[in-house]
This record gives sequence, C-alpha cells and structure tokens, in this order.
Amino acid sequence: MTHHHDGDPSLSHGAHLSYGSRHEHGAHHVTGGADTDEASDPAQFWDGVYQEKEKRWSGNPNAQLIAEATELAPGTALDLGCGEGADAIWLAQHGWTVTAVDVSAVALERAAVHGTEAGTSNISWQQRDLALWRPEEQFDLVSSHFLHSPMFSWRDALSSAAGAVAEHGTLLVVGHHPAGLAPWNAHKDMQDKFFTPEDAVDALTAGPGRWRINVADSRERLVTGPEGQQAAVVDSVLRATRTSAD
Ligand SMILES: C[S@@+](CC[C@H](N)C(=O)[O-])C[C@H]1O[C@@H](n2cnc3c(N)ncnc32)[C@H](O)[C@@H]1O
Repeated sequence: MTHHHDGDPSLSHGAHLSYGSRHEHGAHHVTGGADTDEASDPAQFWDGVYQEKEKRWSGNPNAQLIAEATELAPGTALDLGCGEGADAIWLAQHGWTVTAVDVSAVALERAAVHGTEAGTSNISWQQRDLALWRPEEQFDLVSSHFLHSPMFSWRDALSSAAGAVAEHGTLLVVGHHPAGLAPWNAHKDMQDKFFTPEDAVDALTAGPGRWRINVADSRERLVTGPEGQQAAVVDSVLRATRTSAD
C-alpha cells in the first residue's frame, strides 16, 4: 500500500511519505488534510490513514510471520502495530495468547471485529502509543511487521520490541528493505525510514539483553501495486532469541 501524507512534522512541508506493507494491492493515496499539528499526534495520523479506506489491508497474515512463527511453541505473544489484526488472529489461531497493540483506535475496532468473526477469544486488543508505552510483562514472542511511521523511528520501535521479550523468548521484526521498495513508492530517498537486516542486528546487539540471531535475511516477495502492476519488494527479516535478560 502507499500512504501519502502532507503534514509530517518531521519533514519539510509538502513532503510525501509512503509506508508500504505486504498488501500493496490495497495501495491508494492518502491525500487527506491533516495539518502539521494534527500530524504530530500518531493516533490522529493513523486513524486518518485507516479512515481513508474501509479496509486498509488484505486480511491475510504476513508471509514472514508464517515463515518464522509456525515452528515456535506457542505461549504469550505481543504484536506491535497490529493494524487490522490479521497477524494477531493468525497467532491466536495457532495457540498463542496474544496482546495486540496499535495506536489507532480505528484499526483496533476493525481488528476486534475480525477477531470475533474468526472465533478467537485469546487476543487482548490494546490502544497504546509505542513511543511512550512500555509493557509491564514480557512475552515469549514479540512480533512487529512494517512498523514504519513518520513519528516513530524503526530504531525506537525495535528497541521497544526487544525490551518486551522474555528470557528465552523470540523477537521477530520485519520491515521494508531500503533497497527493495516498490517502484511506486515515492519515498525511496528516505532511506533512514527503512532498514536492512544488518542494520536491525546492529541495533539489537547494541542494546540491552543478549541475543542469538536466528535469522537476518533479505527476502524478496511479489506484490501488486495501485494500478494492478506487479513488482518484487524485499523484506528485512530479523528473528532472534533472547538468551539472557541482561
Ligand atoms: C504499515 S502499518 C502495519 C500494520 C500491520 N503490522 C501489518 O503488517 O499489516 C503500521 C501500523 O503501526 C501502527 N503504529 C504506528 N505508529 C505507532 C505507535 N507509535 N504506536 C502504536 N502503533 C503505531 C499504525 O497505526 C499501523 O497500524
């Protein structure tokens, strides 16, 4: 998908941002008019993004979640930036007790409806700003997919995710590779918004905790663009096990 937004306070006015996910076939343009002040509020910004479209994402779980989490023994999971809930629902359906967090109430309302429709009862949907919130408990799995946001750097997102992983637990962080953005992504110049798997490993190992790196991969994936065009994009995938708390 493609989000266009004109009011990002971290950019010169009139700059456009684009945040994609696996659901590029749902691509569209957010032209809506949050001004600079509104854009500094992540809840308002992301509610606006969701309200632009009745359904923002495909409803399918992310490919890298399925690839990496299928073999894990289920326990407690935290999904950060859960959006409309497909990953949290997949985890719940695979035996996990899930806490799913997003800053957007609009996304969470949709997620909760999807969760009910899917018959899941083991998901707690919570509205939190991850730039501010730190969970009180730690989780067997912390999963974060495409948590790219104008108000929240990927480094802060990764460090917040890492801090929530229990000892012997798993961290799974997936984002867009800066060299593998969709051709219709208008913001390829904004390389600092995206990360390579090596960037993610460096950021993780520079922070607290000890980690075993299980996967640090660049994975190509085919997506469909706003005009129905096909393209290959690259996901940066980091899966790591926390071997000790400090
Ligand atoms: C590109 S979407 C990805 C959604 C979902 N993980 C997926 O892969 O479909 C990014 C999500 O992160 C959420 N988000 C952005 N900044 C956030 C923050 N500071 N705290 C919590 N959620 C945030 C947005 O509301 C949005 O749902």
